[in-house]
Amino acid sequence: MFTTETLYVPPPALAEGAHVAGRAAYDALVREAAADHQAYWARLAREFVEWKRPFKKVLDASNAPFFKWFEDGTLNASYNCLDRQVHAGLGAKVAILFEADGGEVTRVSYADLLARVCRMANMLRAQGIKKGDRIVIYMSMSIDGVVAMQACARIGATHCVVFGGFSAQSLRDRIADTGAVLVLTADQQVRGGKHLPLKAIVDEAIGLGGCEAVRRVVVAKRTGADIAMRHPRDLWMNDLLACQADTCSPEWVGAEHPLFLLYTSGSTGKPKGVQHSTGGYLLHAALTTKWTFDLRPEDMFWCTADIGWVTGHTYIAYGPLALGATQVVFEGVPTYPDASRFWTMIQDHRVSIFYTAPTAIRSLIKAAESNAETHPDRFDLRSLRILGSVGEPINPAAWEWYHRHVGGGRCPIVDTFWQTETGGHMITPLPGATSLVPGSCTLPFPGIDAAVVDETGADVPNGQGGILVIKKPWPSMIRTIWGDPERFRKSYYPDDFKGGYYLAGDGAIRDAETGYFTITGRIDDVLNVSGHRMGTMEIESALVACTELVAEAAVVGRPDDTTGEAICAFVVLKGSRPTGDEAKAIAKRLRDWVGKEIGPIAKPKDIRFGDNLPKTRSGKIMRRLLRSVAIGEAITQDTSTLDNPMVLDQLMHSN
Ligand code: WT7
Repeated sequence: MFTTETLYVPPPALAEGAHVAGRAAYDALVREAAADHQAYWARLAREFVEWKRPFKKVLDASNAPFFKWFEDGTLNASYNCLDRQVHAGLGAKVAILFEADGGEVTRVSYADLLARVCRMANMLRAQGIKKGDRIVIYMSMSIDGVVAMQACARIGATHCVVFGGFSAQSLRDRIADTGAVLVLTADQQVRGGKHLPLKAIVDEAIGLGGCEAVRRVVVAKRTGADIAMRHPRDLWMNDLLACQADTCSPEWVGAEHPLFLLYTSGSTGKPKGVQHSTGGYLLHAALTTKWTFDLRPEDMFWCTADIGWVTGHTYIAYGPLALGATQVVFEGVPTYPDASRFWTMIQDHRVSIFYTAPTAIRSLIKAAESNAETHPDRFDLRSLRILGSVGEPINPAAWEWYHRHVGGGRCPIVDTFWQTETGGHMITPLPGATSLVPGSCTLPFPGIDAAVVDETGADVPNGQGGILVIKKPWPSMIRTIWGDPERFRKSYYPDDFKGGYYLAGDGAIRDAETGYFTITGRIDDVLNVSGHRMGTMEIESALVACTELVAEAAVVGRPDDTTGEAICAFVVLKGSRPTGDEAKAIAKRLRDWVGKEIGPIAKPKDIRFGDNLPKTRSGKIMRRLLRSVAIGEAITQDTSTLDNPMVLDQLMHSN
């Protein structure tokens, strides 16, 4: 139970002037939403979004769970993010302060950004791109990356950003599944002083087959590396942009028009293409950016996520721009040239709102401990007002360090729980309204009907763990899984789950006294490694695809001090079980193989070999047992049903 001593109350000065000022204001919003859910969301949709044609219908639940919001309204997301600011007199305001890997800084005003987006949008139209076409963006953190997303939105094309760390195979799968007609990429990307390929991986991906719909690959120049260009398919972005006008009429789309697809891992099969809408999504992006971060016109906002993840969509490409904010966009990594990079940038750019992941914080704590030069205490971080955390649970020790050493003990930390599927924050403190408890994401965002239930869908009492659900639909929710509506229904609204609630896939517990939520982790076979979501089945499939070596594989997660969870793979080879140096060499080969199949983020940290895997007599792999083996804990489970108890010993000691 949370005692009042452990609560961090909102600083009074902040609470007074906040957009949601004090707990009473929060409670009033929750009451407003509870009294009339649709009227609440309609009010905010009118306040936060500029509609071309105002909507009359708010929610259409006639074909649940395929909910529709504001369906008869029309709008354009790029118009809302850019033209709206210029019309409001913010043309000269800096929209993006870009810092390159090497430290070079570029500022882009709202007027400049609008012009760049228009040129890119005109270029896409000149290439024959029409409303509804899918465009894959395989670029790293860059102004062009954000411009590309906004340009797609401007002409009604649906973007699908693929993280620059994904392999050719993963990229191919996404290009093929979306049926993309055009790929936007760069010659190379630069991270931590290293030049890494992008265009070459696009070539490899398309070469794998299934990408026949791709007519053009448009390449931005980042490093000027000598890369292969295939004519007439490949074109240089700069050549195409040079002759484009810097105005472009926006394509007005219906609120339900798919703004983007973003792939994420599930518990089974291939990653799923989460489809988001335009109207409802943009509303929640703008609303949560404003309330959760208490964003003000003079703030310098910095979200360190990559545009390849949903956080980079909602809290870089859309939310801050829809509010006319100034934000930092960073190309590099937190540890280059050394682990003080974040603190140096906060100091140099007077960052006031800083939003990052627990993994980054934990690794920077370690770095500061081993090299005092990189400790945040040595930097002037007084510009900071609000800190945020996202992607995985933040352990109380990391929370306290972040609060004291980065936030100087004065900045509230918003621990934001949400998912690719939810589009924006679901459960989060509001800095001027919610008292904080380290490790708890506290209370639902006003209008989000989150609850903890049992397998039958019945509420469980506070203090008792259960399944996290969202009871009522909300505007920025996933609309479907691209090309697979049945998988959407089965994954999030399964028939055998009573209540018709959205199933988040996480467990949660509410504090007996405060009702605060703590996320207890995924209840499916999804791992969270450094805030990246990975399906265990996906990694298993990648391993067994190495048919030359692997007969069978099972993957489990194990807690890790830095990355949250670490991937642990148990492998049966076709040949005999390797030991010693041979085992090490094969483990390395398999790690590299998974890196090529999925991407470096999916490489198992630990690979162990056995003559077999622990199975029940009916042949089921006993994952529970493997989890114990991975942690190295004593086996307390009943192993009497195990067909082959010998292998446990092998797996425990190998490597
Ligand atoms: C999963 C979603 C949220 C955008 C980035 C990740 C976990 C996310 C928190 C948090 C505890 C969290 C959940 C969730 N998660 N935020 N604040 N506290 N867990 O999006 O890749 O779709 O992953 O990340 O397990 O289901 P994602």
